[in-house]
Amino acid sequence: MATLSQLDKAKMPKHVAIIMDGNGRWAKARNLDRSAGHKAGVKALHNVLDAADKAGIEYVTVYTFSTENWNRPKEEVDALMNLIAWGIDQEKQEMIDRNVRLRIVGDISRMPDFARHKTEECVEALKHCTGSTLVVAFNYGSRFELTSAMQQIAQEVKQGQLQPDDITEQTINEHLFTKGMPEPELLIRTGGEKRISNYLLWQIAYSELYFCDTYWPDFGADELYDAILDYQSRERRFGKTSAQVQEENNQA
Ligand code: IPE
Ligand code: IPE
Ligand code: MG
Repeated sequence: MATLSQLDKAKMPKHVAIIMDGNGRWAKARNLDRSAGHKAGVKALHNVLDAADKAGIEYVTVYTFSTENWNRPKEEVDALMNLIAWGIDQEKQEMIDRNVRLRIVGDISRMPDFARHKTEECVEALKHCTGSTLVVAFNYGSRFELTSAMQQIAQEVKQGQLQPDDITEQTINEHLFTKGMPEPELLIRTGGEKRISNYLLWQIAYSELYFCDTYWPDFGADELYDAILDYQSRERRFGKTSAQVQEENNQA
């Protein structure tokens, strides 16, 4: 298990994205309701955000509810909405104290009113914060995000504000929910599955992927630092050769 002191401060990722998976299986293994797993997941998130803050990570983006999660039994969807509202209430003061900037990516208009109001109140209460950024992906799906971006771009072309030839990768970036954010250098998925589940498809084009078997409620500071240590051991080549990368590092 890694500790913070083992990490190289100069090679810290700026942005870590997390797929918090395994709450249901964690609960099942304990003969508990799936919702108990989600509740334990909120606690894990609290601990991981604290650990990320200590490591100086500027952005953490967490997948809390996907566009596909609406397909779960109504009972579980309701429990998740209640829990999101409860979790926001629970964490709000601490986020203010920690000066956390909060950003929501996804379509919160589909949230039930009580949960949406809590979310909006929290965004409002934190709007003057200037510290690290917690990005909450709620009712988020990459295909939905990219489709919305394409619709907006097409609209701008139709209105003559943009020429098709002027559409660049930058244009696309600026129409995503994540506009203005750095790309995640590291994507972590807990819970043993090795898939992306419609998360940040455009943004993770060159992210380092880290999969671990630990169920999300059991994931804490040590596991986060393990993931970062693993990330720091990798050579990010961006299409170049290893020799080129090493030469660049020597020159830096
Ligand atoms: C992740 O845990 C949380 C959400 C998707 C909201 P799961 O609920 O997917 O847990 P497993 O994968 O069934 O164990
Ligand atoms: C992804 O987990 C979504 C979240 C963690 C919120 P899922 O558990 O929904 O993913 P799949 O369906 O197993 O791919
Ligand atoms: Mg799952």
